[in-house]
Amino acid sequence: MREAPTALVSLDALGASGVTVVNETPHGALAVGLSGGEPFAVSNRCRHLGGPLGKGHVADDGCLECPWHSARYDIVTGKMKRGPQGAFKPVAGVVKSTLGKRDLKTYPVEVRDGQIWLKG
Ligand code: FES
Repeated sequence: MREAPTALVSLDALGASGVTVVNETPHGALAVGLSGGEPFAVSNRCRHLGGPLGKGHVADDGCLECPWHSARYDIVTGKMKRGPQGAFKPVAGVVKSTLGKRDLKTYPVEVRDGQIWLKG
């Protein structure tokens, strides 16, 4: 049976980061936002060390960047596009090729009436 659409977040509530955490969804906590004008919803936990992706930001390249070590994810495919940076940068490629194999889950969403909705 199809679930009814669920309102996730108002576009006005996204702020400059372009993304937020929505805890109460049928799929648990999701990172929900806009990238290039397109809505997205992905699992909230970074594949590196579990950083809360909804507290990150949408980067200039349209990827979702983790707030902890700046790994980046393609929000359409859920794939890690860049491994963690900072102290982890020397091993970013290894992290990306190992932990990055487990893509983020992506969920179908749409914008309607100024809100992002999870499709049923
Ligand atoms: S926890 Fe996300 S990059 Fe490290």
